[in-house]
Amino acid sequence: MSRPRVEVCFTPNLYPLHIEDEYEIVVAIDVLRATSAICAAFEHGVSKIIPVSTLDEAIEYRDNGYIVAAERKGQIVSGFDLGNSPYSYMDPKYKGKTIVLTTTNGTRAINTAKHVNDLIIGSLVNLDAVCKYLSDLNKSVLLLGSGWKNKFCLEDTICAGAIAENLLKTGNFHSENDSSIAAKYLYLSASENYFGFLKASSHRRRLRDLNLNEDIKYCLTPNQTNVVPIREKNYLIKA
Ligand code: MLT
Repeated sequence: MSRPRVEVCFTPNLYPLHIEDEYEIVVAIDVLRATSAICAAFEHGVSKIIPVSTLDEAIEYRDNGYIVAAERKGQIVSGFDLGNSPYSYMDPKYKGKTIVLTTTNGTRAINTAKHVNDLIIGSLVNLDAVCKYLSDLNKSVLLLGSGWKNKFCLEDTICAGAIAENLLKTGNFHSENDSSIAAKYLYLSASENYFGFLKASSHRRRLRDLNLNEDIKYCLTPNQTNVVPIREKNYLIKA
């Protein structure tokens, strides 16, 4: 039997070029900060997250009484309960609750991969748990970075490279694309010190200018949780 593939897609706009290869599972990655915040939410007891792409959808949910988180340009959109800081999801008042979430890039990436049956949420904060989940599943996997408005971003690529390298090391997966090789080498250069390596990354600068250093530290610290959020219908739950 041939070994399943693991490949890296840098940004959502490149996704249509990759899906021809018929992956069985997609991992949506937005290290700074959407997928890290989603992991933090499930780690702290949130029961369901509904990712939506647009503010209009978010407003509709809010008008129907849902708790809604909305972020644009790194900030909470005025009139919404929450933004995209992982720490805001740790509040015990959200335990057992459903939260609707829209962010600049992360939730768009999740919804870009609509037609694939299986989608999970990956980040550095749940890195080992995601690698184990994928390794046990042994299916062909596409690692989808969220980027910034469809432009390449370092932190998602490094996280994708980490997952790819872990799976390739098992000997049970193979990869063919140059994007996967590039991601792997970026990861190998960054893995000793994500914080230092990503000092100059554009979104890290953006968040630092908004005084969100604590969020950056949280998001760049690997393996803080074993949760693997998975998609079921139009929402995310803990696997
Ligand atoms: C996004 O989805 O673009 C990011 O999570 C933005 C942010 O850090 O708030």
